[in-house]
Amino acid sequence: MTTVTEIAPDIFRISTYVPEGGLEFSQFLVRDEEPLLFHTGMRGLFPIVRDAVATLIKPEKLRWIGFSHFEADECGSLNEWHAVAPDAVPVCSMIGKMVSVDDFAPTPAKGMVDGEEFSTGAHTFRFIQTPHVPHGWEAGLLFDITQRVLFCSDLLHQSGEISEPLTSTSVMDRARQTLVEYQASPLANYFPYTPMTDPILQKLADLDPRTLAVMHGSVFEGDGKQALSQYAGLVREVFGAAPNVRAAS
Ligand SMILES: [Fe+2]
Ligand SMILES: [Fe+2]
Repeated sequence: MTTVTEIAPDIFRISTYVPEGGLEFSQFLVRDEEPLLFHTGMRGLFPIVRDAVATLIKPEKLRWIGFSHFEADECGSLNEWHAVAPDAVPVCSMIGKMVSVDDFAPTPAKGMVDGEEFSTGAHTFRFIQTPHVPHGWEAGLLFDITQRVLFCSDLLHQSGEISEPLTSTSVMDRARQTLVEYQASPLANYFPYTPMTDPILQKLADLDPRTLAVMHGSVFEGDGKQALSQYAGLVREVFGAAPNVRAAS
């Protein structure tokens, strides 16, 4: 089942539980003069996501498609969206644009550099470059300065079918369980732990977000600074100490 939830004024979470993967995939629509979708979802989800977007805006009016890194759940249906909304422009890091997106998508992307801002009308976004956080050379995130919403991709990932689209209760226990379970599975080494990991997570915490728009699991509303600082500790604990070389071999 797909649910649509307004998580902040004119920012909607479109979420679908995929039983085969045992997790929810969420896309976020910002309804503005120039509507923005953050994450497209995989190609297989496209009809569902398009129909959900159609309950909020005319899909052909979509103007921006943002995402963190080049993966199917982040941007897999860019081309399907292009067929519906030919004026929609991908928004990603300059690295993502140069390395993958301009080869994959029919419309050249807006390649962003760290700290660069752009507006969709009532909302202003800042791009934060986050190399290898959560993963991928090209990774980056968008921060809605207007509503203090951080679109945080795989950060705070919580597996399973979760009943709360939006919660102000800590999601850290669920996030910990997911990372620990993944480490003992073929999905191990979700995050590469590098000398940049902790400074990047602290930089995100310093944005002092009010809402963490998580791709997999509940959106967290509350003290985003504290939640991201705690999450930095969790990532250090799980990935920073002993590498899972068994899974990597
Ligand atoms: Fe990812
Ligand atoms: Fe993801």
